[in-house]
Amino acid sequence: MIEQPLDATSPKPLYEQVKDFILHHIQDGTFKPHTRIPSERELAQRFGVNRLTVTKAIKELEQAGLVYVRIGKGTFVAPETYNLQLDTLMSFTEEMRQRGHEVSSRVLNAAMTEANAESAHRLCVPVGTRVAILRRVRCVNDQPIALETSTLLASACPDLFEHHDFTAESLYAALRTRYKLALAYAEQTLEARAASREEAVLLEMAERAPVLAIQRVTYDDRSRAVEYASSVYRGDRYKFRAVLKNL
Ligand code: GLP
Repeated sequence: MIEQPLDATSPKPLYEQVKDFILHHIQDGTFKPHTRIPSERELAQRFGVNRLTVTKAIKELEQAGLVYVRIGKGTFVAPETYNLQLDTLMSFTEEMRQRGHEVSSRVLNAAMTEANAESAHRLCVPVGTRVAILRRVRCVNDQPIALETSTLLASACPDLFEHHDFTAESLYAALRTRYKLALAYAEQTLEARAASREEAVLLEMAERAPVLAIQRVTYDDRSRAVEYASSVYRGDRYKFRAVLKNL
């Protein structure tokens, strides 16, 4: 690891120089994704600077999405951002596996209940219709990436939670294989907003940091709305890609 001393005579502030040092090591692969970088104390000692100088450098790298801080554990190198196709009906698992990533989920809620006004409207059913609700934190390579709440018509997947463990399984795979649902198309909207406190905690990000809020209604081959999903993706980990054709 290169350890050049900082240049106190340079017009570049010391914290910028610390930032450059960390960035350089991320870019040359010395600090690899998900590995811990030296602590603020270690860096301050190494460069003979005030710890606050290092804190400022790390804060800026964190805001830029290049590192993430795990309270009590240290500062880690952020993974690359994930590119997702915007014009193909794929599940989270399919998208990520296709790119060689490990997918897992933390199930926050998996229950049969009654449709509220919002989900009833989205699924085009009366309020009170039986629905299955699945709320998960979706992780890629063990990092939380999205918070996803899927509301499904219970009549389309009556005993969904009796047969599947969604910490490891794909919802779409279950719908396709067990319930023989032909998921044909989906309508999706995206909007940028700031993370709420709860979202920030679950996604291990700063409160008010940008997220992409996505609403999806998925239809089967008879144009029946079978899933309404409301998802929040970390703004610093996701990039959507679409191919636009001239009509
Ligand atoms: C995407 C969609 C969701 C869908 C999910 C299924 O994230 N936005 O609407 O519920 O994929 O993912 P999986 O099959 O990995 O559980």
